[in-house]
Amino acid sequence: MQLKTSSKQTKADLLVLPLYKAKTLPKELKKHLSKSQQEEINSAFKRKIFDADLGKTLTLHGKTTSITLLGLGEKKKLNLHKVKKAGSALACPAKKTKACVVSIPDKEHGLWLATALLLKSYKFQKHLSKKDKDQIKTVIIPENFKKEATEFSTLIESIYFARDLINSTSNEIGPKTLMQEAQKLAKSSSKIKVAVLDRTRLKKMGMGAIMAVGQGSKDGPYIVTLEYKNSPKKGKKPIAITGKGLTFDTGGINLKPTGHIETMKQDKTGACTVLGIFKALSELKTKGHFIGAIGLAENLIGSDAGRPGDIVKAYNGKTIEVTNTDAEGRMVLADVLSYTEKKHKPSHIISLATLTGAVMVALGSDITGLTTEDEKLRKSILKSAEEVDEPTWELPLYEDYCEKTKGTISDLLNYTKGVNAGTIMGGAFLKEFLEKTPLAHLDMGGTGWADEGKDCCPKGATGANLMLVIKTLEKL
Ligand code: BES
Ligand code: MN
Ligand code: ZN
Repeated sequence: MQLKTSSKQTKADLLVLPLYKAKTLPKELKKHLSKSQQEEINSAFKRKIFDADLGKTLTLHGKTTSITLLGLGEKKKLNLHKVKKAGSALACPAKKTKACVVSIPDKEHGLWLATALLLKSYKFQKHLSKKDKDQIKTVIIPENFKKEATEFSTLIESIYFARDLINSTSNEIGPKTLMQEAQKLAKSSSKIKVAVLDRTRLKKMGMGAIMAVGQGSKDGPYIVTLEYKNSPKKGKKPIAITGKGLTFDTGGINLKPTGHIETMKQDKTGACTVLGIFKALSELKTKGHFIGAIGLAENLIGSDAGRPGDIVKAYNGKTIEVTNTDAEGRMVLADVLSYTEKKHKPSHIISLATLTGAVMVALGSDITGLTTEDEKLRKSILKSAEEVDEPTWELPLYEDYCEKTKGTISDLLNYTKGVNAGTIMGGAFLKEFLEKTPLAHLDMGGTGWADEGKDCCPKGATGANLMLVIKTLEKL
């Protein structure tokens, strides 16, 4: 997979011509087309086979090169969201091509058309004995976009990397393997250092919350910290990104039912996204100081598993009654958050997690849930969300709900019966584990995984929020 710039279009076997809604072939496209092609296209317009509606394509197959007209719909209505839709529609006509040239209508849009095409063309094939080799190899955009093409190419590759990890099954990637993936990433970059806390260390340090989640599995738990430093500003504190890394979530003794358990390999999405973010930071050579902290565990059942009703003590000293073993992500993050605050004293923390199923009820599978009490984080995240078109919506940390995380025989409950605002309750619980560091928690329970293919993404791991976080870090 490559996003390249070139002034020559000779090696391409597909030329993409984007155009706004029209009734005939626009003049400016004529120079790319022979007389007979022009006639063919105009006849398609006349017979209403093609009208350049958003995401509609018309492909003419030549002897060596094909041409795809890509509809952008009405010019006035075009925005980034629609450009991404249109770009995704190219995945089908571009499938068998080696190289495809996108003739750009406008700088930003052209870049995103190419990006959407590549994101949509991703395939997770490692378990297929017969691999589909008809995959687009290169997308070429004009030479004057060299800098942007390199940046976007890195982002796309990092998203592919995160997707590969998330899509990997729980018998391939357990807590230990994911920890090793973090070590591998650190090894590949001189700017990343890695530190691992294993079960023995976690226990000694009093991390009773993550320990309680991982105790039913032989594998893990771990807290892995990545530290990226590249000419940081003097006196500026690092920014931390934390991630939930449940390599499988059975729900524990509060076992998940059929229909809900099958895709729970996705519960490592937060952690894998953090790894993807650090890969991108190091390849983009971003300036600054960043901490990535991931909590890795497997929530299994068995004779060693924790029980509903158990009370454990977290790293910050607060006691938690495990009222539901399926609310395990917040337990893992509880220790990751207080450890990160104490050890690295970051200026801000952004947390990524497939924390609740409830976020899907509130916002569906296209919108990420945000909870925060910090204006700067809120503003920069929501602005970045718009810039990369990764819809994000804030849910309130309503005080009366937050109060309901309090227990009667323990300081906190990991789940409170009767409060139906599940996503807010997750965010409310997390903030109990920070003393003063501003936190933004992104609940990707809906957006991390696509049950069916959608814009910019085939079925499976989406890679959502990687671009959003990179853009946010630039603003903080
Ligand atoms: N990992 C799940 C949330 C989830 C569900 C993510 C579906 C992606 C798709 C999380 O650990 C969980 O089980 N949450 C429960 C919490 C409840 C028991 C308080 C939920 O939201 O149902
Ligand atoms: Mn769970
Ligand atoms: Zn979970």
